[in-house]
Formats: sequence, C-alpha cells, structure tokens
Amino acid sequence: MTVIECHRLRHAYPPSHRSAAAVPVLDGVDLTIAAGERVALVGRSGSGKSTLVRALLALEPVEAGTIRCDGRDVTPGPVHRLRWFRRVVQYVPQDPGSTLDPRARVLDIVTEPIRRLCGVTDRARLTAVAVAALEAVRLPADLRTARARDLSGGQAQRVAIARALSPEPRLLIADEPVSGLDAPLRAHVVDALRQASETRGTALLLVSHDLSAAAALCDRITVLHEGRLVEDRPTGDLLAGPEHPETRALLAAVPRFPA
Ligand SMILES: Nc1ncnc2c1ncn2[C@@H]1O[C@H](COP(=O)(O)OP(=O)(O)OP(=O)(O)O)[C@@H](O)[C@H]1O
Ligand SMILES: [Mg+2]
Repeated sequence: MTVIECHRLRHAYPPSHRSAAAVPVLDGVDLTIAAGERVALVGRSGSGKSTLVRALLALEPVEAGTIRCDGRDVTPGPVHRLRWFRRVVQYVPQDPGSTLDPRARVLDIVTEPIRRLCGVTDRARLTAVAVAALEAVRLPADLRTARARDLSGGQAQRVAIARALSPEPRLLIADEPVSGLDAPLRAHVVDALRQASETRGTALLLVSHDLSAAAALCDRITVLHEGRLVEDRPTGDLLAGPEHPETRALLAAVPRFPA
C-alpha cells in the first residue's frame, strides 16, 4: 500500500534579487513511498531535496503536479491543514534548532504532537512516551527539562527526531537528520530510526548527503539532480551498478563506495 506519492511535481521559486526569472527547482518529479518502505533521497547541495520534501508536506506551493497521501489528494492548498495528514506524516526539518520554540522545554516539545494529534492527556503516559523517545536518540536525561534555546545543534536535531517519532506516524520525512551528529551518535540515531521503522512499520524518507547513512538504513535510493529524479533503485543494485553519471559522481565521492 502506498503512503505518499507525487506525480509530475513542478516547482519554481519566484523571481528574486538573485535572479530576474523564476528559478525551476523541481521538474516533473514522480515519487512513491510504500507502507514501511525506507527511501533515501540524495543529491548535491542545491539539487532541490528540501524543496521536494517541503512540497510533499504542503509547506511549499507547487506549480503543477499532484500529491496523494493514503489515496487522498494533499496537493498544497487548504486541505493540507487537515489533522489526519499530520497524524500520518511527521517531519524533521533540515535545521530543527531554528524551528523549535526557543523557550519551550524539551519534554513539552516532544509530548506536544501526542497531546495535539493523539489526544493523550494523561501526564504520566505523556512523560513515559517522551522519555522513551528521548532515550532512543540518546539525549542525556538532564536535558529533558532544558529549554530549546540551550540545546546544541545535534541535541536539537535529536529532540526533533524524538518529537516526530512520538506520535507513531506512518511516514517520517527527515531532512538531514544525522548531519549535525558525531559518528557514534550518528550510528545510534540511524539505529533508532531503523528500530522505529522495523517495530512499528514506519515508512521513512531520509534526505541525506551521507550516502553511507542512506545505504545503511534504506531499501531504496533515489537521486535528485537539477530538479529531476535521475535514478531510483533498490540500494544494493544502485551501489553495485550506478547507471546515471550523477549517481556515479556521488558514489565516487564516498571512499567506501568507489564507482
Ligand atoms: N525560499 C527560496 N527562495 C528562492 N530560492 C530558493 C529558496 N529555497 C531554496 N531556493 C533555491 O532552490 C534550490 C534548491 O534548494 P534546496 O534547499 O531544495 O536544495 P537542497 O538539495 O535541499 O540543498 P542542501 O543539500 O544544501 O540542503 C537552490 O538553488 C536554492 O538556492
Ligand atoms: Mg536541503
């Protein structure tokens, strides 16, 4: 069963001081994610990865194309404010530190979607869910009562992951969720994402520069190049025989995966 799919998605940012014409960023993107599937979206900086995931989440308008979630049309418009969509799809933005309320405390940040979307009000249950989610991403216990403004980039990233996982979404879209973490923590967080996916059947769309994290975690890798998906194949096949020159270039840049 498909959780989310987009068809012929096109997006261009409006003209700005940087460019007199509208800049095309997504150019006819087709992407389907099935229930429980783990898909990596990779591509160079500026290739349009964050724009694509923001469009899928209806946080960015699109020029053309359609987006469906659970078979229902969620192409950006008034419909995207529906609660059911937020219950199905959760999001870890690329720079979570800047999106968390600086004065909010960690436990309240993590319990907020469970309270709002799942209607849980029992304090002990809320705390138990949040503590489990924060332990899974190895956030030190003394930070549970800290305010968001006092967190480092990597700590904020882990709080955002715990927050997104706590309402048990069917799809987690995570934009560079491990980029601010040191190697051991990165391995733990990759593991936490895999466990959430395996035990609850959560599908994952992982945006990453880090092809080794993508390969370790995802069944499929899709490569975005100049606004188009140029390769979309099972991880093993793609690593063993990259077909598009852009995929080869990305793999060649990773010492573990010479093209
Ligand atoms: N709000 C905006 N207004 C105008 N142009 C934008 C805006 N956001 C992004 N862009 C441009 O769109 C292109 C794609 O940006 P996007 O953030 O989607 O890339 P990305 O693949 O996520 O890059 P990175 O790996 O660096 O995060 C870039 O050329 C960027 O400059
Ligand atoms: Mg980005």
